[in-house]
Amino acid sequence: MALTITNVTKQYNAQKTALTNYSIDIDKGVLGLLGPNGAGKSTLMKIIATISKPSEGTLFLNGIDIVRNPDAIRKVLGYLPQDFGVYPNLNAYEFLEYIAAMKGVGGKGLRRRIDLLLEGVNLSADAKRPIGSYSGGMKQRIGIAQALLNDPQVLIFDEPTVGLDPEERMRFRQLIADLAQNCIIILSSHIVSDIETIADQVAIMQDGKLLIHAPQHDIIKQADGCIFELLLDNSKLGSFKQQYKVIDTARQADQIRVRYISSKGKEAPSSTQVTATLEDAYLFLTQDNG
Ligand SMILES: Nc1ncnc2c1ncn2[C@@H]1O[C@H](COP(=O)(O)OP(=O)(O)O)[C@@H](O)[C@H]1O
Ligand SMILES: [Mg+2]
Repeated sequence: MALTITNVTKQYNAQKTALTNYSIDIDKGVLGLLGPNGAGKSTLMKIIATISKPSEGTLFLNGIDIVRNPDAIRKVLGYLPQDFGVYPNLNAYEFLEYIAAMKGVGGKGLRRRIDLLLEGVNLSADAKRPIGSYSGGMKQRIGIAQALLNDPQVLIFDEPTVGLDPEERMRFRQLIADLAQNCIIILSSHIVSDIETIADQVAIMQDGKLLIHAPQHDIIKQADGCIFELLLDNSKLGSFKQQYKVIDTARQADQIRVRYISSKGKEAPSSTQVTATLEDAYLFLTQDNG
């Protein structure tokens, strides 16, 4: 599986260009799309899912032009849209049967497959209840299950962890890890920790552009040597923030522990250099651009 996206631009209207000259090569494994709201993540995912067309540029899946031949990706695609909607009167089992029929998935194995999927997203016990009575996290899990119905080779999950509690997140991570062997999995989030624990590769987006695409540890390396901590008096925090980009603050005794970004050698006196995380690197890489 190889998805090659070249110079894709998406202009919604005269005022709004959501993607500008976007190019990325995606191989099998888990790619995390990280970026603030409005960066263009959902737009890119819709174009890959062929429910939106690029204004310019090309997308090839294994050498096949999927703008001209959308069926080439549709038949191997699982997609969880950000605004995934359910039919409240159906129960989970009926809903998956309905989606299966629309996707042309059927046959003798279907019941078993639905049972396995419901188990995989931990909904077996609630499978006979109308979805309208589900919590947000449960609806999200049924959304994850429907994306997997056709045994997809390209999986797109737009903000999949929204509404999931920590335990559900762990389950989701496990599910993805099991699937990642043979598929392209693309997931988006504006929350760094969601991407951090799941994705091998990370693509950071801002303002419709790709800032960087690399293995996660290479992205973290970019911020190496530029992340510091120091203890400050409460009264000094305001002026410190005007000088440095502050990542995080935490109360410590009667002072404040500040984590911040500085170029090497320009850090404040009495600071300690600390090991960068993906969150640090994300803020470091996006700091000058927005
Ligand atoms: N159908 C649309 N018409 C006009 N503008 C849109 C449409 N969909 C999205 N946008 C705009 O395009 C930009 C990117 O949106 P989106 O792809 O949803 O970003 P993200 O998923 O990263 O939050 C935003 O400024 C958004 O308001
Ligand atoms: Mg979005």
